Amino acid sequence: MRLAKYLAKAGIASRRKAEELIAAGRVEVNSEVITLPQTLVSETDQIKVDGKNVRGAENKVYYLLNKPAGYISTVRDTHNRPKITDLLNAAPARVYPVGRLDADTTGVLLLTNDGELAFRLTHPRYRVKKVYRAWVCGLPDSRTIKNMSEGMIIEGEKTAPAKVKLLKTELKKRSALLEITLTEGKKRQVKKMCSASGHPVTKLHRESFAGLKADRLPIGSYRLLKDNEISMLYRIVGL
Ligand code: URA
Repeated sequence: MRLAKYLAKAGIASRRKAEELIAAGRVEVNSEVITLPQTLVSETDQIKVDGKNVRGAENKVYYLLNKPAGYISTVRDTHNRPKITDLLNAAPARVYPVGRLDADTTGVLLLTNDGELAFRLTHPRYRVKKVYRAWVCGLPDSRTIKNMSEGMIIEGEKTAPAKVKLLKTELKKRSALLEITLTEGKKRQVKKMCSASGHPVTKLHRESFAGLKADRLPIGSYRLLKDNEISMLYRIVGL
């Protein structure tokens, strides 16, 4: 696509204004100032106007799903099990989950076709916060909670420090509700941390991802992210 059209489609300016921006030397493609509006660009090029990234014009979409239990976080499955993408029938574009939730985990899951953003949101380097509520067996004591918070060795690797809060205890049922905030996303990390502490998880829910919550979204439903939410995601991963 031509650069001026790309900028217009991305909502930066009208086509004519975009041509003016380009001619004025305010547009960079892959760190090089480009002054020809008809220069061809594609989604893989990094385009900036006045030093700020332009989000792709290629119909990038961003959804927040309130995932129900019983759905796997994959787009393809050889065993014909229910998949999260089965819940997105009305979505116009092919999207992928940003990280994974286990089939029995419920709660916030982002889906997008914006590969670079998804990659960064799941990379431990960007320390994106994921808040979980985990019902566990037994009543974790303060030392256990401290150990979980400080990082534990799981399968030979130390987990990053986490925030762990005891929200509730059910003395009769001998179970407890923990709020666990992670800034990394190792596979089945919450369940492994809890099991390794002697408190297996019976129910797991993700309250928020990067501060985004499902709020009034019914379980099994999804919504488009708002522009300010997308900009916030870009900002926290340095795009
Ligand atoms: N940790 C888990 O153990 N399972 C999930 O689904 C997410 C985080």
